[in-house]
Amino acid sequence: MNVLGLETSCDETSAAIVSDGTVVRSNIIASQADLHAKYGGVVPEVASRKHVERMLPTIQEALDAANLTYPDIDSIAVANRPGLLGALLVGVSCAKSLAYVLKLPVATVHHLEGHIYSALIQEPELTNRFPLLILVVSGGHTQIVRMDGHGKYTILGKTRDDAAGEAFDKGARLLGLPYPGGPNVARLADSGDPSAIRFPRAVLGNNLDFSFSGVKTALRTFVQKDAGKSKSADVAAGYQTAIVDSLVARLKKAAHETGIRTVAVVGGVAANSHLKAEMQKMADTQQLHLVVPSPILCTDNAAMIASAGYFRLISGSNDPLAFDTYATETLGAGS
Ligand code: KG4
Ligand code: ZN
Repeated sequence: MNVLGLETSCDETSAAIVSDGTVVRSNIIASQADLHAKYGGVVPEVASRKHVERMLPTIQEALDAANLTYPDIDSIAVANRPGLLGALLVGVSCAKSLAYVLKLPVATVHHLEGHIYSALIQEPELTNRFPLLILVVSGGHTQIVRMDGHGKYTILGKTRDDAAGEAFDKGARLLGLPYPGGPNVARLADSGDPSAIRFPRAVLGNNLDFSFSGVKTALRTFVQKDAGKSKSADVAAGYQTAIVDSLVARLKKAAHETGIRTVAVVGGVAANSHLKAEMQKMADTQQLHLVVPSPILCTDNAAMIASAGYFRLISGSNDPLAFDTYATETLGAGS
C-alpha cells in the first residue's frame, strides 16, 4: 500500500511516499529555516503562507522521486495535531482535497506518534516487537513513552517546563547563535571541552519527568557574569552535556523500572551526535538495544507521518473528511 504522508506542523513543508509502512520511496522536506532565521524563531503567519506555496510542488516532487503518479497513491496520512494551527491547516486542507478528488481514505496522525514511527522505519523489525520504550525529544516536547502496540501509548514522564529542543534553541540565543539553535549549539560544542564548565542537572526526585528551565537560567547567569572570558565552544559543550546527561539518566531509569530492553530516541534533538553517542554508551552498559533514526528521519518529515498513518489504516481506522486540527493534544488521547 502506497501512503502519501503530509507534514506541515511547524516550519517544514514535507511530502513522502511510504510503501507498506516502512519502505520510504521518497521523503521531500522543504525547510523554511532560512526564512525564519532573521526573526530568531518561527513566525506562524510566514510559515503558513510558505506551506501554501510549497505544498503541491513538494507533493509532485515526492511523486517524481518515487517514480509514481497520483493514481498510484492508495491512502493519505496527514499530521493534524499538535502544532501551529495555521500551518497544520495547510496540510490538512490539502489532504482533504486530495482524498475527496481521488476518493482515498485518510488517517490523521499525532505529530509525536509520527516521530515514534521514525524508529520503526529505521528498524522495521520493531513493528511487531513490543513493548518499546521511546524518548521523544523535539522542539516542543520531551516525553518518555511506553508503546505496547500500534497506537497504544502510555506517557511515563515528561518535561515540567521547557522541552529539550527549546533548551537548545533558547541556549543558542543566549550564546548569540542564529536559529535553528540546536544544530548551531551542537556545531560549536564539537570544538569545546565538555568538562570545562559544569552546568546543573535538575534533581526531580523519584519520577521520570524532566526540567530544563534551571540549566537555561544557569547559562544566562553564566553568560552575564563571564562577559566573554570563557571560550564559547567550552560554554556550548558544557551546556549541551548538561542537557544530554539529563536525557540519558532518565531513559536509563525508565528502562530499569519497566524492564523494557528495546529503547529508541526520536525527534529533532535525536539528530544530535553527542546525544546519540552518550545514549549508545548507556545502552551498552545496560545491555539495551538502542535505535536512533538517521538524522533526516529525526527532524520533521512526512515519511514518519505516512508510516504511522499506514498502521492506523491497516487496523481498519480512518477518519471521516470532517476531521479538524488541534494546536495541543496529548499523545494517545484522541486516536
Ligand atoms: O522534531 P523537530 O524537528 O520539530 C518539532 O517537532 O519541534 O525538532 C526541532 C528541535 C529544535 O529545537 C532543534 O533545535 C532541535 O530539534 N535540533 C537539535 C539538532 N537538530 C535539531 N538539537 C540538538 N542538536 C541537533 N543536531
Ligand atoms: Zn517534530
